[in-house]
Amino acid sequence: SAMDSTGYFAALAELGTQCRNAYMLGRETRVPAVADLSTVVVTGLGGSAIGGDLLRVYCQERLRVPVTVNRDYTLPAFVGKKTLVFAVSYSGNTEETLSAYQQAREKGATIVALTSGGKLAALAAADGVPVIRVPAGLAPRAATGYLFIPMLAVLEGLGMLDGIEAEVEELARELAHYATTYGLGSPVAQNPAKQLALNFKGRLPIIWGASGTTEVVAQRWKGQINENAKAPAYWNAFPELNHNEIVGFEEPAELIRQLWVVILRDKGDHVRVGYRMEITRRVIEGKVAGVTEVTSTGEGMLARLYSLIYLGDWASVYLAMLYGIDPGPVKVIDYLKGELA
Ligand code: PA5
Repeated sequence: SAMDSTGYFAALAELGTQCRNAYMLGRETRVPAVADLSTVVVTGLGGSAIGGDLLRVYCQERLRVPVTVNRDYTLPAFVGKKTLVFAVSYSGNTEETLSAYQQAREKGATIVALTSGGKLAALAAADGVPVIRVPAGLAPRAATGYLFIPMLAVLEGLGMLDGIEAEVEELARELAHYATTYGLGSPVAQNPAKQLALNFKGRLPIIWGASGTTEVVAQRWKGQINENAKAPAYWNAFPELNHNEIVGFEEPAELIRQLWVVILRDKGDHVRVGYRMEITRRVIEGKVAGVTEVTSTGEGMLARLYSLIYLGDWASVYLAMLYGIDPGPVKVIDYLKGELA
């Protein structure tokens, strides 16, 4: 996944186009209807799993069956003939995902492979499993369009979701707009992504979302700061964090002064969660280095989630620049995979 920051910026700027192409790839894929479908499982790791979380959150209020994300070698016991499994690995060579794929085969699940190639594409082709083949050459985390939208298109093709095409169009338009706002050419004073990076620099970012909406965005921001800027970050979600994490803002005071908190809001948040966010902000202000509150924009859930994800993506790459780090390579992940090979 080596890529210099120029390539990384280009991939970010083109995310809207990627989402449109990703939708087409999903629609073109023939997936057999699953009789009496009970669950959808997305199995994958890292950049190939976050699309599963996006799907889970997106489907929460729209799909009649639950979506579960599996980040492991093994699948849960409930997986069987009534399960639709998306096996997602950008490289196609992640051992946990290959193992889960084999299990899904043994359990008789209906499988769709989502990959740019590798062993997963070869196995699926040999097994007669539908493959959604996405373009290679990106870092997995720069391919979230490809690793998420095709699953929506497949569920739409199976008659389980509708209106996805219009939502993808709105999303692509929003992303094109934000590519200018957050892009390299936009000066700090008008660029929230650059401002965030400056606030994160030398500090520990804490990203808070809300269950059922922005939780997945918070998780994504954390991963992006880790993988692009090679820096630590943490995430949590309301209302749960009001029942534990919020107590941990007393000691040590000098450590807490190094935290920069981001609160991610969405119009779909429970109204009481909105109050909780405001109260919590008052509780921590003055103790932490600062708090940034961001509210999603757009109408559809897709555009709203991505409006926030996109800001975090850009901010994490700017933070990498501030640290003098190439956002592309993830040497430690490659080292681990190599050691296990
Ligand atoms: O962003 C990354 O490079 C990682 O999080 C990978 O996505 C993760 O290691 C899994 O690899 P793959 O996406 O190829 O299955």
